[in-house]
Amino acid sequence: MEKRDELYRGKAKTVYLTDAEDKLILHFRNDTSAFDGQKIEQLERKGEVNNKFNHFIMSKLESAGIKTQVEERLSDTESLVKKLDMIPVECVVRNVAAGSLVKRLGVEEAKELTPPVFEFFLKNDALHDPMVNDYHIISFGWATEEQISKMKELTFKVNSVLKTLFAEAGMTLVDYKLEFGIDKQGDIVLGDEFTPDGCRLWDTETKKKMDKDRFRQGLGNVVETYIEVAKRLGVEL
Ligand code: TMP
Ligand code: ASP
Repeated sequence: MEKRDELYRGKAKTVYLTDAEDKLILHFRNDTSAFDGQKIEQLERKGEVNNKFNHFIMSKLESAGIKTQVEERLSDTESLVKKLDMIPVECVVRNVAAGSLVKRLGVEEAKELTPPVFEFFLKNDALHDPMVNDYHIISFGWATEEQISKMKELTFKVNSVLKTLFAEAGMTLVDYKLEFGIDKQGDIVLGDEFTPDGCRLWDTETKKKMDKDRFRQGLGNVVETYIEVAKRLGVEL
């Protein structure tokens, strides 16, 4: 597979075209961003750790019958993926109250949410990813009602697979964000990434934060902690 021109540079990943029309290369950079790009730092090895972590998680999800974008890991920091027509919303599931939910509703942090809460956010840094609902998504043509149902179904399916996977390694999956796209067959496929950059993970016993909140809150040992998460799951680094 030959790497061609850069297609898109995000805050933490760069997407390249390839010589195959329907395949892209994702390059996981060391850049770490928070607060819509207001805080950006390069953290050594983060690209490598996230690329390997993402490949591991996406493979687990594929085995559980969830279609993902990932085709193969090409190098320490690059993966080959299917080209998708991305839907510009983020799907968030929360098992435990934290982050923006606590600020927005004034609820107690660490409260277990039964049933888990599902939220949509519009992907738009300039607007700070505002929360949107099904009606906004349909009215503005970002996705159809059928695609919305499928995204919710798949996001909850991911929850059942990953909650167990992390629980068995002594971690609580507090919340996470997924992004979906449409493949050339018209199917909804899980895209983007699943790494500690896009979820909250707490050590179940000690409640230690093991995700990007370490960076957001300046707690230090960011990549070291991602490596600990990876090792607990058996990801080969
Ligand atoms: P929030 O509490 O800030 O709304 O975030 C909920 C979850 O979604 C958390 O695990 C972080 C993740 N997330 C992202 O990865 N990127 C984003 O742009 C947002 C808004 C959330
Ligand atoms: N991913 C967003 C950013 O890079 C928001 C965040 O994670 O805090 O700025």
